Amino acid sequence: MQRVIASQKEEPRKNFEVAVTLKERNTLIGGGRISVSDERHREGFIGYILNRDFWGQGYATELAQALIAFGFEKLGLHRIYATCDIENKASAHVMEKIGMQREGRLREHRLQGKNWRDQYVYAILDREWSHGKNHKPND
Ligand SMILES: CC(C)(COP(=O)(O)OP(=O)(O)OC[C@H]1O[C@@H](n2cnc3c(N)ncnc32)[C@H](O)[C@@H]1OP(=O)(O)O)[C@@H](O)C(=O)NCCC(=O)NCCS
Repeated sequence: MQRVIASQKEEPRKNFEVAVTLKERNTLIGGGRISVSDERHREGFIGYILNRDFWGQGYATELAQALIAFGFEKLGLHRIYATCDIENKASAHVMEKIGMQREGRLREHRLQGKNWRDQYVYAILDREWSHGKNHKPND
């Protein structure tokens, strides 16, 4: 929490963490983040996590779309990427649904316990977002 609060005062601000709540129940169900990874080349990345009890209801898709809209429309980014474990089918599907393209596989990119894990990298460009933003993910 301290790190997140401190990041709000960065100048220029590079990290934006959001809490995901259910309005009707005022319940915290997850969180998301968008960070500017490279200012000069206007690149950012996103990440998200949802409480397991709320999986499969489209919340991550809505969240990822909101983070990307913020990145392109408010932060003026040109490119936004995200990574996921190659076995994380739900996350890969979320990224594909919102128009991100799989660009490649990062070999042994994360250490999980004693195991090195490969990750897929997905990305979307500002023009692809503008072109597709009137379409719903399931269209
Ligand atoms: C990944 C995660 C955020 C997805 O959240 P969610 O709210 O369930 O996602 P959504 O409901 O918006 O969409 C999930 C999609 O993946 C699909 N899916 C789920 N499990 C799947 C599987 N094993 N194989 C293929 N598709 C799968 C769902 O059917 C859904 O697609 P649909 O809307 O076309 O039916 C959630 O599982 C999570 O928090 N996981 C742990 C943290 C994590 O992995 N974060 C991402 C790090 S890259």
